[in-house]
Amino acid sequence: MHQQYNYGAALQASQRINWQVDDIIGGEHRLDFSRRFMPESLARVEELRFLSADEKRILNQIRGYGYLYMFGLVEEFILPYVLDHARADLDKDDLRTRAYLQFASEEAKHIHLFKRFREAFDADFGTPCAVIGTPQEIAKIVLSHDRLSVALLVLHIEWMVQAHYVGSVKDDTRLDEHFKSLLKHHWMEEVQHAKLDTLMIMELAKDRTAEEIATAIEGYLALGGIFDGALAQQTKFDMETFMKATGRKLDEAEQGAFMQVQHQAQRWTFIGSGISHPNFLATVGAIAPGADEKLAQVAPAFA
Ligand SMILES: [Fe+2]
Ligand SMILES: [Fe+2]
Repeated sequence: MHQQYNYGAALQASQRINWQVDDIIGGEHRLDFSRRFMPESLARVEELRFLSADEKRILNQIRGYGYLYMFGLVEEFILPYVLDHARADLDKDDLRTRAYLQFASEEAKHIHLFKRFREAFDADFGTPCAVIGTPQEIAKIVLSHDRLSVALLVLHIEWMVQAHYVGSVKDDTRLDEHFKSLLKHHWMEEVQHAKLDTLMIMELAKDRTAEEIATAIEGYLALGGIFDGALAQQTKFDMETFMKATGRKLDEAEQGAFMQVQHQAQRWTFIGSGISHPNFLATVGAIAPGADEKLAQVAPAFA
């Protein structure tokens, strides 16, 4: 698959897209809180049958807020990561340098976009949403790992974003149009990131022994474990925000069901849908034959 990708084509595609943050959020672009933001396959609010239709919509919106917060959070480590990768070989290939700088610049724009979204959400939702953090602390933990482990995590995220948009968001007519447009514009640029990140992994893996690559894949799984812990914490925050926003006091059994269903929904959203993505697994298989099958076996726990 990586043979199909090249820096020049990715750069050209990126330059054709080139939208501005102001075109998407702020000004007359207001979120419509009478609608849902997230597709049900990621939000999984319907499984919580003890919630009313309005409560399900509000929980769905809280999940939308957390979804974009999480994107912003991961992009806080992707940005320096890509810059460092480009900087290590600035004089090697002009198209390579420009494609990576474009990639980094788009992630900086996405960080800005997601912050603007949060301002718009906060202005109209009425209840502050609690979130894990801080992005800077999490970036520090992630970036202390092997560079190839981080590159695998980034590739997982890039393909995951595409699976969500194409598979669940694009054709869902029930969702708020502005939220959807934001996801669409983000996705358009992420298409190139997945290709560039594939090239990055091939560069990082080419001089490593099979053992070193296996260790890097272990490191990627360890990062997944760290994120799983963070997702459990975020689920707890979402439950607290939900009770504040709706005034509904969930009893002990309802809280248990909320935590179970919503943590698993978060796991599928951020871990399962990335680790099981065929293009992600193809790249893993290309650098470590057989490791793709092992990862595919881990995936059902996050489905
Ligand atoms: Fe992004
Ligand atoms: Fe990206």
